[in-house]
Amino acid sequence: MKRIGILTSGGDAPGMNAAIRAAVRTATRKGIAVVGYLDGYSGLVRGAFVELDDRSVGNIIQRGGTIIGTSRCPEFLDPEVRARAANQMRADGVEALIVIGGDGSFRGALALQDECGVAVAGLPGTIDNDVWGTEETIGFDTAVNTALLAIDQLRDTGESTGMMFFVEVMGRTSGAIALHTAVAGGAAGVVVPEAQEEIGQVIDRIRETMAKGKRSHIIVVAEGDEAGGAFGVAPVVGKALDRPYRVVVLGHTQRGGRPTMRDRLVASEGGALAVDGLAAGRSGFMIGRQGGRSVEVPLREVVANVHPPVNADLLRLAQQLSG
Ligand code: ADP
Ligand code: F6P
Repeated sequence: MKRIGILTSGGDAPGMNAAIRAAVRTATRKGIAVVGYLDGYSGLVRGAFVELDDRSVGNIIQRGGTIIGTSRCPEFLDPEVRARAANQMRADGVEALIVIGGDGSFRGALALQDECGVAVAGLPGTIDNDVWGTEETIGFDTAVNTALLAIDQLRDTGESTGMMFFVEVMGRTSGAIALHTAVAGGAAGVVVPEAQEEIGQVIDRIRETMAKGKRSHIIVVAEGDEAGGAFGVAPVVGKALDRPYRVVVLGHTQRGGRPTMRDRLVASEGGALAVDGLAAGRSGFMIGRQGGRSVEVPLREVVANVHPPVNADLLRLAQQLSG
């Protein structure tokens, strides 16, 4: 194998750069050149890429975002567009592709393999931690820590003023960020899309803790929640408790920033192992985390399964520890 491509697709996630760096440096040690396609599948379709070498991926391990850009590329859903992209890859001497993204991006990668014979490997990169077959996705740990920082700050002002805060975190169809943030941030309540806790239960629990003298109440709400996100939940709870409140939407702040140690580590192992697998002639796998180790997981299984279910133990813990 002489030349491989790499792209980042879908929403960006902190740690994607660390994965690119690891893939490039592992490849160059094996005498394989790497090109980075710009802005996800859009770069593949347009034949837009940059050469990446050991130096061009220097000083990026600590940077959020992705140096090669990302996008959502609806054109890539068309098999004819994919066939043209594969032909262009071949003409450019690119023999395999590493795709960093979520399950949608992996569907694109598998289609490229099955229809056009391109060898592909996936790395789960999304802050949502909603990819089947891996315990953690690149970016998740950083996103949760960003949300935690905000919650710790809100707690100071909440404790001082008695103000209640509804903090909306990302995750349109996944409550993973909300749940982990709620437990680690000591939230008084959490509302997630997969297991919508009755808002009534949150109200009852807060009423009890207020009676015990608790002043600071943080309620974490996932953006995708049926109740309409934090702006939907807040007035209902605020009115029932007759308590002043504010809504804080963290939004895209969770997508950026310095990746944590965990995200850099997971990304570095993943980038290196993806290249090892491709160089050994394998294709159609994702490097996932299972039992705390990085392993190859068939991409076909990843996309055949729906998002991992909400962690029921963590949900119970969040409820049990609010007091
Ligand atoms: P994520 O990868 O984070 O799940 P998306 O679902 O938005 O994000 O997918 C990212 C991109 O992957 C899409 O814009 C499209 O280019 C490609 N893609 C998604 N689903 C498919 C599919 N079924 N076939 C081919 N390409 C796809
Ligand atoms: O999938 C990652 C994610 O950040 C989700 O948590 C969020 O719902 C979505 O992307 C936001 O996408 P956009 O940047 O297109 O609004």
